[in-house]
Amino acid sequence: MKDLWIIANFKSKKNLVSTLEWIDLVGPRLTKSNSLKVALCPSTVSLVEAKKRIQVNNYPLFLGSQDLSAFPPGAYTGEEPAEHLKDFIDIAILGHSERRSNFKEDEKLLDSKVKQAVGCGIKPLFCVQSEKTPIPKDCNLVAYEPVFAIGTGTADTPANADNVASQIKKNLNREVEILYGGSVTSKNAQDFLECKNISGVLVGTASLDPQEFLNILSSC
Ligand code: PGA
Repeated sequence: MKDLWIIANFKSKKNLVSTLEWIDLVGPRLTKSNSLKVALCPSTVSLVEAKKRIQVNNYPLFLGSQDLSAFPPGAYTGEEPAEHLKDFIDIAILGHSERRSNFKEDEKLLDSKVKQAVGCGIKPLFCVQSEKTPIPKDCNLVAYEPVFAIGTGTADTPANADNVASQIKKNLNREVEILYGGSVTSKNAQDFLECKNISGVLVGTASLDPQEFLNILSSC
């Protein structure tokens, strides 16, 4: 049986109160497992309280950020350095297409972000939009997220996603886990999770509803 990741990406859609409500509903339904890793990436402002809530209740839930600074701590107004985030998070989503397009994040900047994350013991979850997207070294958790599928309700086909994941593995020629993201729901999650080259899903819209997220988890 392969290891699976199920990761919720809240984007900028939930505030602290609704993030904690979500944790209170989902957390008690999670069971400890070595092969299934469940992670939540809320907005940065929710990370500290989310971490407390998870720790106090001992929920088997990893936490992640949706970005981090390309710089170390210093005179970088508005930035959240990995060095500060590392006390709260296990993973960091980097290279999401929404950041590439809205904030003009390029390969050089993303390379620096990956270096900052890895240097602080944070696992980058590096998003690529196709098998051609460059992947910095040290990234061994990659999400294939075709832009046409993000937030549109039209997912890629599992066969194509599996094919892209296989290409990425061939190109990298090293141990790497590939997730699929883009309009994943409880109706199609299992089809992606069953693909040979896919080790999990990154879920945006469908992760916001705790019950829908739990339904996705039960596909595992
Ligand atoms: P979506 O978003 O599930 O709403 O398509 C996925 C993502 O952007 O990570």
